[in-house]
Amino acid sequence: MKISIVGAGYVGLVTGGCLAELGHQVMCIDSDAAKVATLNAAGLPIYEPGLQELMARNRAEGRIHFTTDMAQAVEHGEVIFIAVGTPSKEDGSADLQHVLAVATQIGRHLKKFKVIVNKSTVPVGTAYRVQKCLQDELNKRGIQESLFEVISNPEFLKEGAAIKDFMHPDRIVIGLDASPNYNTVHQKMELLYSSFNRHHARTIWMDVRSAELTKYAANAMLATRISFMNEIANLSDLLGADIDSIRRGIGADQRIGHDFLYAGTGYGGSCFPKDTRALIQTALDCGSQMKVVSAVENVNDQQKTLLVSRLTYHFGQDLQGLKFAIWGLSFKPNTDDMREAPSRIIIQELLKRGATVSAFDPLASKEGLEAVSHDTQDAEALSRFSLAETAYEAADNADALLVVTEWKTFHHPDFEMLKECMNQPLILDGRNLYDPKMLQDLGIAYQGIGRRNQLALNFKAGAHIQQEATSA
Ligand SMILES: NC(=O)c1ccc[n+]([C@@H]2O[C@H](COP(=O)([O-])OP(=O)(O)OC[C@H]3O[C@@H](n4cnc5c(N)ncnc54)[C@H](O)[C@@H]3O)[C@@H](O)[C@H]2O)c1
Repeated sequence: MKISIVGAGYVGLVTGGCLAELGHQVMCIDSDAAKVATLNAAGLPIYEPGLQELMARNRAEGRIHFTTDMAQAVEHGEVIFIAVGTPSKEDGSADLQHVLAVATQIGRHLKKFKVIVNKSTVPVGTAYRVQKCLQDELNKRGIQESLFEVISNPEFLKEGAAIKDFMHPDRIVIGLDASPNYNTVHQKMELLYSSFNRHHARTIWMDVRSAELTKYAANAMLATRISFMNEIANLSDLLGADIDSIRRGIGADQRIGHDFLYAGTGYGGSCFPKDTRALIQTALDCGSQMKVVSAVENVNDQQKTLLVSRLTYHFGQDLQGLKFAIWGLSFKPNTDDMREAPSRIIIQELLKRGATVSAFDPLASKEGLEAVSHDTQDAEALSRFSLAETAYEAADNADALLVVTEWKTFHHPDFEMLKECMNQPLILDGRNLYDPKMLQDLGIAYQGIGRRNQLALNFKAGAHIQQEATSA
């Protein structure tokens, strides 16, 4: 089938690459000419495991092309996916300017019937707005014919495992409303995704509004699990319990399951923070409230500053003259995505207090530096931030090491070497990678998140909660 995909970002490129791999003829269009030039020169503007090889194979076989030309893309695809960004606006609602601009541009070039598939994460009612933009453009050209059907097909892939997620989906959600085009569109989408339904039907059909809301509900549910576990971890710190034992204890309950039960420094990335905010705003727009999701967001905001609160409890508010190592910049392993990464908040808080920060990330150094430069208004503060070539270089002479992203390469460091190179052997493990007892035996002061080993550091458990309460 001939497919066009508007937006060559994390979702657009993975969708395009995977559909090409299944034999479809794919054209990806992006308004960013530099991105398209990179793609046409056999490069990739993002990192996603396996994507380079997938693209190379399908480029070589002539199944995927890249362009900035919307007329060409509209002409090409029987099905046209919209996969552009929907970032947060100031009030937390989803910014639909890119989605609606794309709809208008498609409308300008539409000559025959196309299925317009919204893959971007968008609030309920967006399909209707896309439809209106398209129709307005057709009206301007005096076209009365029904030349499109707008449907919703939210994407559930995870960065870092996106190809596997796309190729082995738990489910494919498609929102399609009753219309004269219903059967045509239903058949086309069934055919498009038929490779995934061979073993058993994975497509879940529903109306458009439900499909739009399903995506937000899924992300809010996952974010809730994370914030819930972070709260239980913080309580474990106060009570001397161990969150890792608790995680295994509750995960074994089949009604709960093991996924998304890890306590840490809070969730980030391009989806959970913005999607929970947008859901809260959607409810407010209806005169309602998302009380659980609002609490989830508050807990997450607080969790992102937990490591810094622990440092200031230990060293005091003024961190001048102290150096801290950060291991991991991207919001999670196996991606270079820095959007809303907890490392950004941690680095800002440290620089604000006069500290020197040296960071190492196996992949996201360039993106990390761009993000920190963007966040740091003060040139003097920025001068105290540097990137290290290796994890040990970052830790050299450091007064504490903060583990922020659970890259595999951080799982088994040489602790003796760390002890030797650090100014004082102190590890704040924001991802619970290490065994507290082992580090204690090695003479390294260590604190994880909810790990029953507070005395090693003489930290008062839950210090950040008490500090927040005092300053409130
Ligand atoms: N990244 C994820 O893990 C993920 C997962 C599921 C859903 N989503 C959703 O998918 C959507 C896309 O996310 P992403 O992470 O791929 O975004 P992204 O920022 O990586 O990519 C978006 C691309 O769209 C392009 N674009 C913007 N306006 C355009 C226009 N008018 N014409 C052509 N191209 C245009 C941008 O240049 C950019 O390359 C968002 O709504 C997001 O919430 C993302």
